Amino acid sequence: MYLSFYGLGEPPFELTSNPRFLFFTPQHREALSNLEYGLSSSKALTVLIGEAGTGKTTLLHAALESERCRGVRTVLLSNPRLTRAEFIETLASQFELGARAEQSKASLLEGLETVLRERRRRGEITALVVDEAQSLSNELLEEVRLLANMETPTEKLLPLVLAGQPELAGRLNEPELRQLKQRVALRCQLAPLTLQETAAYISSRIRTAGGETTRLFTREAVTLIHDHSHGIPRTTSVICDNALVHGFALSKQPVTREIVLDVCRDFDLRGGVPTSSLENIPAERASSTSAGPVGAAGPEGHEPRSAASPGGASDPAGGFEKAENRARVLSMLGLR
Ligand SMILES: Nc1ncnc2c1ncn2[C@@H]1O[C@H](COP(=O)(O)OP(=O)(O)OP(=O)(O)O)[C@@H](O)[C@H]1O
Ligand SMILES: [Mg+2]
Repeated sequence: MYLSFYGLGEPPFELTSNPRFLFFTPQHREALSNLEYGLSSSKALTVLIGEAGTGKTTLLHAALESERCRGVRTVLLSNPRLTRAEFIETLASQFELGARAEQSKASLLEGLETVLRERRRRGEITALVVDEAQSLSNELLEEVRLLANMETPTEKLLPLVLAGQPELAGRLNEPELRQLKQRVALRCQLAPLTLQETAAYISSRIRTAGGETTRLFTREAVTLIHDHSHGIPRTTSVICDNALVHGFALSKQPVTREIVLDVCRDFDLRGGVPTSSLENIPAERASSTSAGPVGAAGPEGHEPRSAASPGGASDPAGGFEKAENRARVLSMLGLR
């Protein structure tokens, strides 16, 4: 591993939601504050929207573990591709309602309401959080709406949070789901990071891992990482980690833009800003992201690797011999 070579105490770019590595931009703070407020104040429905890899799940965990939500008991659904029967079964078991509730919706709703009212009498808030909510079927979204209807004369019994990719926003605009949309009390969005924010994200992770940014990446390398990750934190971490592996194999410190270019070529990550991302970035943020295809950036002395030999034993750099690992990362990025 490259840790001692780069003077690091631990890996800086692990793909986990480790709270020690949390990085906040103003939009992250605002989204976190909305999530905490929605949960702790029993708002009917809070929605968090963001492209894949922008940090929705990470932020949900941060909100659920926050001081403000300490008194909130949460049921978290992270696999919304459930059938209606599985959904009911999951709720019944998570709310400890017993086997009877698993058999019919009427018993489930009755059992659930009793439990929620009892908890509320004790001053406890229970919330339902659905991650990857863009994958919920309309049928399940309708079930979720019915759950959001349970209330006392003064407050909602089961505050809901839906987090999902931009398709979720589209789904909420469907006429069929207008009643659910009307229940949205708070809505927050995570846009990709600007160049300055990507640089700060990289530095923050390196510092937390005990390292110094200037020892790991040149300024040009960071600019190129932003260009090819389009400001998506998950992609940024994958490029950084692989660039460090590659740089270590070449005994190169700090990592240069040529090394980053090699990694992006291997992962088929193109530079420039895709129009789909731009649609979700406010104008002033979009203008600070750099553009330009890989070719335009110029490999400066580095021969492109042939498609037939993207690494492996014949790779002099030896950075990508683990084809399995590469395939795993590509699929995590949704590229293969
Ligand atoms: N604010 C952040 N601070 C630190 N790391 C982050 C942050 N946002 C994202 N990351 C990193 O990016 C990875 C992907 O983030 P996360 O899983 O939260 O994205 P997501 O928006 O839920 O994506 P998906 O839509 O694919 O589920 C995390 O595991 C984490 O390593
Ligand atoms: Mg997620």
